[in-house]
Amino acid sequence: MVINGTHHTLHLAPMAELTTPALRKVVKNFTDNVVLYSEMLASGAIHAKAPHNEPLIQRYDFDNPFFYQLVGNNPDIMANAATILQDYGCDGININMACSAPHILKTGAGASLLCNFHLAKSVIVACRKNVYGLLTVKMRAGFHDVNLQFLRQFVSMLQDEGVDAVIIHPRAAKWGFTRKARWDIIEAIVTEVNIPVIGNGDISEPASALHRLQQTHCDGIMIGRAAVQKPWIFAQCEAALRQQSLSLSLNIEEMWIDVLQNIQVMLPQKLHKSRAHRFCAYYHKNVKFGHTLFSSIRQCNEINDMIVLIRNYFKRNEEERINIV
Ligand SMILES: Cc1cc2nc3c(=O)[nH]c(=O)nc-3n(C[C@H](O)[C@H](O)[C@H](O)COP(=O)(O)O)c2cc1C
Repeated sequence: MVINGTHHTLHLAPMAELTTPALRKVVKNFTDNVVLYSEMLASGAIHAKAPHNEPLIQRYDFDNPFFYQLVGNNPDIMANAATILQDYGCDGININMACSAPHILKTGAGASLLCNFHLAKSVIVACRKNVYGLLTVKMRAGFHDVNLQFLRQFVSMLQDEGVDAVIIHPRAAKWGFTRKARWDIIEAIVTEVNIPVIGNGDISEPASALHRLQQTHCDGIMIGRAAVQKPWIFAQCEAALRQQSLSLSLNIEEMWIDVLQNIQVMLPQKLHKSRAHRFCAYYHKNVKFGHTLFSSIRQCNEINDMIVLIRNYFKRNEEERINIV
């Protein structure tokens, strides 16, 4: 996708409670060439200017390029929320038609919009009127099942209504994370639409990112869970895309502490525990006895206590501190 005259191939997936500024910052420490997204923001709360959203909306200098992700299903409220977010400064607004969490589906938002073609269209029409930057949609490849015919019609509608790019996570909403992402569907849809298609799902290594780009000819790759465990993955992908070799000496301990301390600095106290636990749930996989360490971390309410556990772990397992990839 072209953003401010530059084509960007790599995207960090929006993930509730995970794509904090602390994670976004560490990702950007490794490479500048990655598009960032906010945590999913509820349009109703943005529209109502609820103060609790302020820390999640705040944009930092490393947030570049940057999209806010909005979730909701009321066209007027979505459009108004998009206007409010735009005033904070961003490259665009991403509409969530992908989330399959029960509390979101219950409200008729997220992937529910895939079942309501006319409402989805009204949301896009209303947002397009207000969004002068880029307007993109992140969606599943179907609700109950992956369906190319459905996808064709839905993406054509998005394209006709002025959406600039579509990000497809090629699982059905009802699948959750069961079954493999259907990259064959990405390959098929890319040939049928004119807007950029960004593929997402199960990319865990630079080689698989490169393989999926070559296989599908999609415009870009979005990575979620693997980027939480390995915030350096985009730097590796970038090198792979350029057919360059890259060797990184990673201080697993310092990076871990750095993210936790940034959560402390960048987010209010009441979000510390949830965000820290979420991050550790993925990052702990970088060490051998991470599972046991994570069990102890989950007992902690305060980040400082989590940091003590992590420091003690690396005192006992010094050989795991530095990882050369
Ligand atoms: C904990 C978690 C939270 C997520 N929250 C969101 C979200 O708020 N909005 C969204 O569009 N997708 C969300 N997703 C889905 C990811 O953006 C992505 O589509 C999915 O994880 C597949 O990509 P991956 O295989 O690279 O992780 C979430 C995923 C996880 C694991």
